[in-house]
Amino acid sequence: MATLLYITAHPHDERQSFSMAAGKAFIESYRESNSDDEVIHLDLYTENIPHIDTDVFSGWGKLRSGTAFDELSAEEKSKVGRLSELVEQFISADKYVFVTPLWNFSFPPVMKAYIDSICVAGKTFKYTEQGPVGLLTEKKALHIQARGGIYSEGPAAEMEMGHRYLSIIMQFFGIPSFEGIFVEGHNQYPDRASEIKEKAIQEAKERAQSF
Ligand SMILES: Cc1cc2nc3c(=O)[nH]c(=O)nc-3n(C[C@H](O)[C@H](O)[C@H](O)COP(=O)(O)O)c2cc1C
Repeated sequence: MATLLYITAHPHDERQSFSMAAGKAFIESYRESNSDDEVIHLDLYTENIPHIDTDVFSGWGKLRSGTAFDELSAEEKSKVGRLSELVEQFISADKYVFVTPLWNFSFPPVMKAYIDSICVAGKTFKYTEQGPVGLLTEKKALHIQARGGIYSEGPAAEMEMGHRYLSIIMQFFGIPSFEGIFVEGHNQYPDRASEIKEKAIQEAKERAQSF
């Protein structure tokens, strides 16, 4: 039995969002073909995802100098404890499906806060004399992203920094397989919007069966 962590960074659900619609289709199809697997939904817009702030830095500093966790301030305990829960949840999953919209060439800010919570030396990567090495070499990941323009080819391709950034993080963690499903061009070609959305939903359903 595998555990799939379904990480969504979107304030809307599948009724308003193209990426969430493709994500929902993917997960439903995945559940049908993998009924023994556990799917955990981490909704970054409703869950507590602490930012790395002065409480976090002072909490980490105290722990490093030998203070017991119970002796941290209430704020330090709550934020440092939650960050540690998030990375433990991440490393205990086997597969990851991320859903994000493309906003200003990248993903919503809560996604960056989440990435900051899971980039932890000794958990997702380690330092060696040859440089950092990823520790998640047995996992696989997929990113579903809706974007109003076309980025898979043409002049805008190099301006896309959401999928590209996530791809670098997955590589950094040593994850050997990182795929993408893109719903794209529906703002650029509004008359084709429903066709583009339906095609992506169909692709998501099919790809879920072999993920
Ligand atoms: C704040 C914001 C920023 C956006 N920035 C871009 C962008 O940089 N490039 C683009 O092609 N579309 C951009 N769009 C359009 C979205 O990518 C498009 O509407 C997409 O469908 C959003 O995903 P969703 O349908 O899951 O909400 C932006 C939309 C919003 C609301």
